[in-house]
Amino acid sequence: MKTLLMLLGFLLLSNLQKYRVTETSQPQVPCFFIFGDSISDNGNNNDLVTMAKANYQPYGIDFPGGPTGRFTNGRNLVDIIAELLGFASYIPPFATARGEEILKGVNYASGAAGIREESGQEQGDRICMDRQLQNHQITVSNIIKLLGNNESSATAYLNKCIYSVAIGSNDYLNNYFLPQYYNTSSIYNEEQYAAVLAQQLYQQLLTLHKLGARKVALFGLGLLGYTPVELATCSTNGSSCVENIDNAVALFNDRLVSLVDDFNTNLPNATFIFINTTQISLNSSSAEVHPTEAAYVVYGERAYRVESPTDAYPFDIESLAQL
Ligand SMILES: *[C@@H]1O[C@H](CO)[C@@H](O)[C@H](O)[C@H]1NC(C)=O
Ligand SMILES: *[C@@H]1O[C@H](CO)[C@@H](O)[C@H](O)[C@H]1NC(C)=O
Ligand SMILES: *[C@@H]1O[C@H](CO)[C@@H](O)[C@H](O)[C@H]1NC(C)=O
Ligand SMILES: *[C@@H]1O[C@H](CO)[C@@H](O)[C@H](O)[C@H]1NC(C)=O
Ligand SMILES: *[C@@H]1O[C@H](CO)[C@@H](O)[C@H](O)[C@H]1NC(C)=O
Ligand SMILES: *[C@@H]1O[C@H](CO)[C@@H](O)[C@H](O)[C@H]1NC(C)=O
Repeated sequence: MKTLLMLLGFLLLSNLQKYRVTETSQPQVPCFFIFGDSISDNGNNNDLVTMAKANYQPYGIDFPGGPTGRFTNGRNLVDIIAELLGFASYIPPFATARGEEILKGVNYASGAAGIREESGQEQGDRICMDRQLQNHQITVSNIIKLLGNNESSATAYLNKCIYSVAIGSNDYLNNYFLPQYYNTSSIYNEEQYAAVLAQQLYQQLLTLHKLGARKVALFGLGLLGYTPVELATCSTNGSSCVENIDNAVALFNDRLVSLVDDFNTNLPNATFIFINTTQISLNSSSAEVHPTEAAYVVYGERAYRVESPTDAYPFDIESLAQL
């Protein structure tokens, strides 16, 4: 009986301890920087002249305070990942981030943006990947100032952070597969286009590395062909059009895996991982352009901690954080 009571007491105490630890715990990494498109955007497009905006209802109907510019009803992909990393509040958008709050990271993502500058231009203004990197350069300079103008301690700080990059969908849906606005599909075949995109992203990721990134999660593209908008706009032979898009996107995803291998072999002290969005969407029945929070919870949780070995390569965000 005494042993039992002691055991109960111990369990109670360790549970309380656990509770207290999670309540006041620090995030697993000091900061989280976010690059990408509408899957990650949390308000950067609000003041741009564009159709790619989400700061009105029904967007945000399940978010505390209502619409924010997130392209979903509640939290988006990176909100879920930020929570799992232990951040007590969401990472602020570059458009409004001020002062010391940039120390926990900044979200640069912009709806309709692509790897290529022109992608998404039929929607209006957007912040393409090169400009997101220029904005990050501004943040890095401000972080150096905030850390007492000590560049080496700022670098050590930035090296510990997680960087997520989820971009490329608009280079397909709002570029290559929109020949009435863009000529890329008459210049490149699908194989060449995947190579050109991957090469441009390679240069962009080198820039990110120069700015101190050492832990980078690259998100593959999902099954874009099955999105309602593509199913609706695919011409007479819908099935082959859908397959075309998914085959083209798969070529790009394969290149992302090669980029990860290349960086992990050749960049000093850097670790890149690939999140297999296609694999995750296969059994979350949620391949949409702008899924609901319920789908983002599945994506975010499986990117953070894999459920199937092919969800992430070579490992998941939780392991990346612990390096
Ligand atoms: C910068 O910070 C590091 C440790 O954080 C310290 O060793 C170094 O002396 C500092 N450099 C300057 C110029 O203050
Ligand atoms: C494709 O379009 C761009 C402008 O978007 C133009 O500069 C370029 O010359 C065009 N290329 C071809 C081969 O038509
Ligand atoms: C649609 O395309 C597929 C693959 O190219 C072909 O097998 C099929 O016969 C086509 N269907 C129609 C109705 O044209
Ligand atoms: C790699 O990390 C080690 C240990 O932290 C450090 O001494 C070295 O300078 C780093 N190399 C580069 C190129 O950043
Ligand atoms: C991603 O998942 C798909 C579908 O399960 C699979 O075919 C592919 O090999 C996976 N890629 C990687 C790099 O694991
Ligand atoms: C998801 O798919 C993978 C591979 O196709 C399978 O091993 C796994 O059991 C599925 N998980 C769920 C929850 O359906």
